[in-house]
Amino acid sequence: MEEKLEEIKRNLHEEIRSIDAQKNAEHLRIKYLGRKGIISDLMKLIPTLPIDSRADFGQQVNSLKREITDSIEALFKTVSVQAVPKVKVELFDITLPGKLPFVGRNHPLTQTIADIKEVFASLGFDVAYGPEVELEYYNFEALNIPADHPSRTDFDTFYIKNDVLLRSQTSTVQIRVMEKQKPPIRIIAPGRVYRPDTVDARHSFMFHQVEGLLVDENVSFADLKGVLYQFIKAYFGQNVQMRLRPSFFPFTEPSAEVDISCSLCEGRGCSVCSYSGWVEILGAGMVDPNVFKAVHYDAEKYTGFAFGMGVERITMLKYGINDIRLFYENDLRFLSQF
Ligand code: PHE
Repeated sequence: MEEKLEEIKRNLHEEIRSIDAQKNAEHLRIKYLGRKGIISDLMKLIPTLPIDSRADFGQQVNSLKREITDSIEALFKTVSVQAVPKVKVELFDITLPGKLPFVGRNHPLTQTIADIKEVFASLGFDVAYGPEVELEYYNFEALNIPADHPSRTDFDTFYIKNDVLLRSQTSTVQIRVMEKQKPPIRIIAPGRVYRPDTVDARHSFMFHQVEGLLVDENVSFADLKGVLYQFIKAYFGQNVQMRLRPSFFPFTEPSAEVDISCSLCEGRGCSVCSYSGWVEILGAGMVDPNVFKAVHYDAEKYTGFAFGMGVERITMLKYGINDIRLFYENDLRFLSQF
């Protein structure tokens, strides 16, 4: 009997040393100490023994049980410490597809401005910038819009104080560039403009424009038309048609509004183009001699053209976006489509 108890002890220690068993301390506990385990089997032997050896054997089994309990408890402790890294390694399934890092992208308006810059760069235009907080002079007077001019209401404006305002058009940059440079001039000027409009699907109190200005000797309306034609074909595609309608701006004479065939319905008529097949995308014209006068250019020697387009409008037409507010809400469900 004693030998048998010794053997059980030896087996246990051997099992504890083997790595498989260590992984499975719970399995060892059940095997030795469980209800149908080795110790319990030994206990069941007691009634079968001669009466005078029962007490002795019982004590031996009890002390074996304590020893085994201690060993297995110790094993639980080491296993639970070691198991932390092991479990982690096992949970890492190398066959799972990797998680893609979140990659940001350009805002659609940033992208449109970049696309516009690229087309005009290929036509030899530089990029110029001007301040958003402007003097009244650059937003109005120098652009041939004196205080009592009726068209001031077309450029409704946020005033900061007396003669300081948030620019309502990027045409301000025309003046700032011409004050600093002599012709020839070929620039585009992208940037934000502000108008106190009530926000709805088509209006915002802040939006973006890209201004264009070219001044040189012998610049004609045909040059303006040629440049705009190149831009429209490059940006909207070869199939898009362009048309010019006579219009009025204080700072250009003659002036035109430029339409393109509706890119959404391809000219057949839809709600975006009010079933006309055409949508207006920009204003343009030959620089008014009064503007040249304001920047001390010789209006006899130089002629030029200017144009201004709405970036939101162009982006909406190109991608079929029907609400301007989507640009400003930073909803990733919208932004991540670009
Ligand atoms: N500044 C005009 C507007 O905001 C657009 C324009 C620019 C028209 C240049 C003619 C020449 O409506």
